[in-house]
Amino acid sequence: MKEITAFPRLRLAQLPTPLHRLPNISAMTGLNVYIKRDDMTGLGLGGNKVRKLEFLLAAALEQGCDVVLTTGGAQSNHAMLTAACCNRLGLSCILVLKKRGVWTRQGNQLLDDLLGAEVRFVDTDDYGQVYAQMEEICQELRQQGHKPCCIPVGGSVGLGALGYALCVEEILAQTAAMHVQLDHMICCAGSGGTMAGIVLGALLYAPQLKVTGIAIEPDDFASIVARLVNEAAALLESPLHIQPQDLHLYDCYGEGYAIPSPEGNAAIRTMARKEGLILDPVYTGKTFAGFLELCEKGYFAPGSNVLFLHSGGAGGLFALGEQVLRGRL
Ligand SMILES: Cc1ncc(COP(=O)(O)O)c(C=O)c1O
Repeated sequence: MKEITAFPRLRLAQLPTPLHRLPNISAMTGLNVYIKRDDMTGLGLGGNKVRKLEFLLAAALEQGCDVVLTTGGAQSNHAMLTAACCNRLGLSCILVLKKRGVWTRQGNQLLDDLLGAEVRFVDTDDYGQVYAQMEEICQELRQQGHKPCCIPVGGSVGLGALGYALCVEEILAQTAAMHVQLDHMICCAGSGGTMAGIVLGALLYAPQLKVTGIAIEPDDFASIVARLVNEAAALLESPLHIQPQDLHLYDCYGEGYAIPSPEGNAAIRTMARKEGLILDPVYTGKTFAGFLELCEKGYFAPGSNVLFLHSGGAGGLFALGEQVLRGRL
């Protein structure tokens, strides 16, 4: 089997990100709840995508690429962080965003502008059409003598997932130093790559760790994540192969992707008021709401050591914050 460290990787994130206990949420739930602060990865406003981009942009540079294209929703954190990482590397960046949801120039769109990324909107909800438009832009760029490369939505391919398998190693070193053995890890499933990397990392380095993904949109994450785990394992030339039914997932998307939900909004307030930490309405708020619902359902044995991944998303809060306030409980 190949080591993850054998793959080209750029050092873009400030690592290790902090990992600490949440004393008040622990008291509230009867568990030992810890948080992994990947909202503090250090570029843009922080967030999970930097770990994937360390691998994806290293591959892009190896191929001699000078323009990076990626896609996402109008408030994509991934797109914003891709633009931030490209600036660090001196690469041009074109963001091909879906003209859906909040597309006024707030939140991540403001950051995309500050970062100097070229933003092009496409009026479709179908990523097949978005990728076709990205390919057209690539053709034009090639004719102009550029070497473009495309990163798919969320950076969710096997290579990007390796960033989160490596994060599990980082977590194990931190918890070992704290004399804590984790029983559970909770993460968001948005395009699936983060969960896939964590599941792979757990299978490789911490078989006792049960990973549960909270789905923040109504996709078939069991299939998506299993495919990504197997793709990443194949890159490592590992015999590891999982099935969709091997994964643990819990739905907490409310009315759908990027629509703030009462449960998510309440969870954002709980985290802010109990621990002074800020979550967002699209990803981490709903993920924390899912965790709290699982606590109520008795999913965790009392006293379990549970790690919650804070994957970032602050930009989205400042675009959708009005809806969080309006939906005030
Ligand atoms: C803040 C934040 N958290 C979680 C996720 C979900 O990660 P993934 O797309 O790897 O499932 C995203 C994805 O865009 C995100 O921006």
